[in-house]
Amino acid sequence: MTYVVTDNCINCKYTDCVMVCPVNCFHEGQNFIVIDPDECIECAACVQECAAGAIFREDALPLGMENFKKLNAELARDWPKITRNKPAHPDANRWVYMDNKLQHLIR
Ligand code: SF4
Ligand code: F3S
Repeated sequence: MTYVVTDNCINCKYTDCVMVCPVNCFHEGQNFIVIDPDECIECAACVQECAAGAIFREDALPLGMENFKKLNAELARDWPKITRNKPAHPDANRWVYMDNKLQHLIR
């Protein structure tokens, strides 16, 4: 079991989740962050930290977000670890209200 970062992180990337993860299992792309499923210990600490409400347990993913489980695993292999928070995307507070952002993901 793992937690999964979903659509609403894209172009928000607040990174508050990173600060609370006890095992540093976040990996960072340009405009999205993912969780390495092999490292997540399911503590759930990151869920409440995310102002975008983007993190869910893999067995409780919202309808239509199921594909993000595979995407997190895949991108975690390609992207470097992030262990400190950083400034959010410049337009995060606008993007946070948008849906279906997967088309904007930069790989
Ligand atoms: Fe890290 Fe816990 Fe979130 Fe998993 S559930 S990504 S271990 S903070
Ligand atoms: Fe993304 Fe939320 Fe973390 S927007 S970077 S999952 S705090």
